[in-house]
Parts: sequence; structure tokens; C-alpha cells
Amino acid sequence: MSQDTLTVTDNRTGRTYELPITDDTIRAMDLRQIKVNDTDFGMMAYDPGYTNTASCRSAITYIDGEKGILRHRGYPIEELAEKGTFLETAYLVLNGELPTAAQLQEWHEGITHHTIVHENIKELMSSFRYDAHPMGMFVSTVAALSTFYPSAKDVEDAEVRDANIKRLIAKVPTIAAFSYRHSRGLPYNYPHNELSYTGNFLHMMFKMTEPEYRIHPALERALDMLFILHIDHEQNCSTTTMRGIGSAMADPYSAVAGAAAALYGPLHGGANQAVLEMLHEIGDVKNIPEYVEGCKKGERRLMGFGHRVYKNYDPRAKLIKDVAQEVFEVTGRNPLLDVALELEKIALEDEYFVKRKLYPNVDFYSGLIYQAMNLPPQMFPVLFAIPRTVGWLAQWCEMLDDGDQRIARPRQVYVGHDVREYVPMDQR
Ligand code: SDX
Repeated sequence: MSQDTLTVTDNRTGRTYELPITDDTIRAMDLRQIKVNDTDFGMMAYDPGYTNTASCRSAITYIDGEKGILRHRGYPIEELAEKGTFLETAYLVLNGELPTAAQLQEWHEGITHHTIVHENIKELMSSFRYDAHPMGMFVSTVAALSTFYPSAKDVEDAEVRDANIKRLIAKVPTIAAFSYRHSRGLPYNYPHNELSYTGNFLHMMFKMTEPEYRIHPALERALDMLFILHIDHEQNCSTTTMRGIGSAMADPYSAVAGAAAALYGPLHGGANQAVLEMLHEIGDVKNIPEYVEGCKKGERRLMGFGHRVYKNYDPRAKLIKDVAQEVFEVTGRNPLLDVALELEKIALEDEYFVKRKLYPNVDFYSGLIYQAMNLPPQMFPVLFAIPRTVGWLAQWCEMLDDGDQRIARPRQVYVGHDVREYVPMDQR
């Protein structure tokens, strides 16, 4: 008998089946042969939330949740964050290899020359209410971009795909900054193509009436590193959404908008805003025990804690914690940091969190840095979406090029009514 098989006996019939094992997985379709009657549909796997389902084969990001390991194309996140830049890492994630100097220069120019958005986008954004959430504006405006580039629907054309990938990476900081400026009632700053990708974003966000916005190099570097740390994370909720929309052959703008909508959720990319609101609600170290008790009773969640994959400290959270110290040397220490540090200390010693392997995740410290950089909490999910656009696009390309992939269409276990007759109104 081959070693790479799973032998399954259906005790309802006594029949035995041999299912091939590949990469420590079985193909779910191989379960369909398991039937009681020949007319049966066949067996399926039931997996709400896809907690134990591999939806694809991917070479982009590797995570070992037990060991707290994260690598992009084989490079440890710690090395990329320390030695790389965001655009360089974006090239790696999308193309599979680190760029040469010439390739990086061409890549940077290709992005820089697409940072401007059509003037109609400004008018579209001006129609949002004054207090519209920037992430809601971001999702809507990225979707609207699909109407400006109808040729992007030709997703099978490599040149068309490449052009729209560059457009999206280039324009998401512009849209993000415009949504912030709209929410503050401030005039928009146009892109400044002499600046770095991250420097240009800060310029568009914060330039007021001064001739040149002065970017503090430590803050530019810190934000660039934060962008690297958020660039991709294998098959998370928003990436699964990107792949799902993309599997229907929708254009990349519509797919990125859908992925961003998923990221907006407080259990996903919206958690960094929720963490800061939580820290403000706790307010002082002395209130932590009562707040933690509420979490343990299930009354609330400790935002920024826990992860579907990491059952150890999220390596990104460690790196972000280090960046926080560098930022606070420039901006002054965020008083909420003391609350966050004490909250982490208490939670990491508490049986409830230890038993469930709940550790700080990428969202726990990032908001403290953003706030210290004068970025408002409502912008935090948008700051997550900017770099994650690269990961979504890389995963989207990999899905389109994977011959194994088809339109995403899961099945269900039907638990509703059996057939029944229509009831006339006077008999209801
Ligand atoms: C991101 O997937 C990714 O890779 C995402 C991400 C990325 O880069 O794309 O890493 C980014 O989304 C990070 C996560 C940000 N979200 C939060 O910080 C919100 C708070 N955390 C959670 O709600 C939760 O931990 C999730 C959503 C992150 C993970 O949820 P799971 O894996 O479905 O876990 P679960 O909800 O089944 O919880 C398991 C147990 C439950 O208790 P019991 O039912 O066993 O008694 O742990 C408890 C939960 O109640 N639990 C928490 C908790 N998270 C889980 N209890 C208190 N506080 C928490 N934060």
C-alpha cells in the first residue's frame, strides 16, 4: 500500500477508500466518492470560517503560527523590515525576487508617474459627507477607479495587468491622503514626485501653506517600515476576498475595493482603530484588571490580541513595538503606551489568554505610532490598506496564473425546510 494515502472506512457502509495525500492535504473532491447510496451527492468537508481549509497553493508568504515566523518569498520579515524599503519589498512580493538597482529605479519611476488621479475623482470625493469615514471613502473611490480604466477588465493580458497594478499601488496613497484632507476640510495636496513613496504620502497628508512640507526622516522611515510589515499575510480574510472576486475575472480595481471592504471590519484591519479606542476607554493602568475581567466573561474582546494563525507572538507586533520607541523619541512618548505595555504584561500572564494562545497581533501597537504621528484613528484601517494593496495584487496574479484555480463557489449543508406548498394570504 502506498504511504502517501489516507485510508478511510465509512462505518455506515463498511466501505474503505484510499485518498491520496499531497503536501499533507487531501483534495476535498476526493471525499465525494464516499456515498451510502449511489444516487447520493457524496461527502463534503464542513469548515465554517475555513479554519482548516487550504484554498490555494501559494509561494508568496510563509507563516509558522506556532513559532511566530513570517517570510515573504523566503526572506524573514525582520530582515526586510530592517534592511529593505517598502517599494523594494513590493517588487519582491509581486515578482518573486529582490530587484537589482536598475530594476528598482525603473519600478520606482513606473509607480511615481501614476500617483495623480483623474480630476473627476476629486469631485466624486467631494460628494462624501464632511464626517464620512476615510475607509468608506477609500473603498468607494478605489471601486470608482474601475470606471476610469475599462481596459483593466482584460485581466489575462500581462501588460494590461502590469499597468493597472502600478496604477493601483501609485494611487492608493493619493486616495488615502485625499480622504483624510476631505475629512478635515483641507485642500488636497497633489503628489510630489521627487519624494519617496512614503515621503510623498506624508507630504499629501500634512502639507499646509509652507512651500515644502518638511518630512522628518525618522518618521518617514518608521512609516515605510510599517508599510513593509503590513504588505501581505497569506490567505487572511481580505486576501481571500480579493481571490474570490478575482476568480470571477472582475477587474483589479473592483477586487481591491472588495478586499478593502473586508479589511475595514473591526476583527481584521479595523482592529488597529479599535485598539486605540480600547486604550482610551481603559484610560489608566489602574482600570486594566476590570477591563480584562470583562474580556474573560466574553463581554468584549481584547482588541489587538489573538490571531487565527499565530499561536505565538506575532513577529510584526515585536517589530512595531521597536519602531514605537524610535517614533516616540521624535514625537514624545504616547501616554497610552504605558496602558498598552501593562495590558500586554497582564494578558500574557493570565490563564484565559495563555490557554487560548492569545498574543498581541500586528494591530496592537501600530495605532499608538500612527496617533503619535498625528494620524487620526479613523485613518488607521486606510494605513493598513495602502501596503496591503500590494499583497492583494500579488495574490490576485498568483490566482489568475494558477491552472488549478476556478471561480470560487463553496457548497453548503442545507438545514432549511423541506418542500412545502404556497399558503394563500387568507390562510396565513
Ligand atoms: C488581522 O488573518 C490574518 O492574517 C489577519 C492579519 C493580516 O495581516 O491580514 O494578521 C490582520 O486581522 C489581525 C487580527 C486583528 N483583530 C483583532 O485584534 C480583533 C481581536 N481578535 C479577535 O477577534 C480574534 O482573535 C481573531 C478574529 C483575530 C481570530 O479569531 P479566531 O481565530 O476565529 O478565534 P476565535 O474567535 O474562534 O477565538 C477563539 C477563542 C474564543 O474563546 P472560546 O470560545 O474558546 O471561549 O479565543 C477567544 C474567543 O472568545 N478570543 C478572544 C480574543 N480573540 C479570541 N478573547 C478575548 N479577546 C480576544 N482578542
